[in-house]
Amino acid sequence: METKIFYSKQQLARFFGDYLSTLTQENEQINIALSGGSTPETIFDVLSQEYSNAVDWERIRFFWGDERCVPPDDGESNYKMTHQHLFSLLPVPEKNIFRIKGELPPEDALRDYREIIDKELPKKEGLPFFDIVLLGMGDDGHTASIFPHEIDLWDSSELCEIGTHPTSGQKRVTLTGRVINNSREVIFLVTGKNKAEKVDEILNEKNDYMKYPAARVNRDKSLWLLDQEAVGS
Ligand code: 6PG
Repeated sequence: METKIFYSKQQLARFFGDYLSTLTQENEQINIALSGGSTPETIFDVLSQEYSNAVDWERIRFFWGDERCVPPDDGESNYKMTHQHLFSLLPVPEKNIFRIKGELPPEDALRDYREIIDKELPKKEGLPFFDIVLLGMGDDGHTASIFPHEIDLWDSSELCEIGTHPTSGQKRVTLTGRVINNSREVIFLVTGKNKAEKVDEILNEKNDYMKYPAARVNRDKSLWLLDQEAVGS
């Protein structure tokens, strides 16, 4: 497991921007699953303001690790957030965007996304293969939309499942652990002091840390990009 600590979200974003720039120079095409929530907003802002030329955006195909079961124009939509902070500001072809259709009934959105990732992604070990899966982590240790109270979803034999937010009851479509761990690389984007306790437990294998879905990501392929607050300093 590799960790990199930055003094600000902007510095973290520039590291990621440089990384994407190199990847899109060296690869004809890369498939990325994006994370949702609020952490990516600032990172996407830096990418759209400072990396519009340095990254070959036409070489990236965008998918999601999870989505809330809401319409794409809803304030809770991960797609909407990404459109506002990234796609609407960069030369990303519409044909390269494979969103989870949160506006559909959850079972229909689930079926649709299973078909999309099964059809649109190369395979490794018979499973869809992402070059990068971007993940965030909740202050309860959840990742994508697999929450501690539904940790069994991580080991599901399906490509993606329906998760339920523990307090709001909101339904989400989420990749499962076998697809996340089948990727080339998992990059965690985790910032803020409210994450420090779980970051410490997971990175230092403390207490019953494996009860946190974020701890189930293969350590040998995960890179944690953290700000100083998230490591408690
Ligand atoms: C989502 C996410 C989720 C997110 C964490 C962290 O749709 O909510 O994909 O896993 O990454 O909840 O969210 P914040 O970045 O808002 O803290």
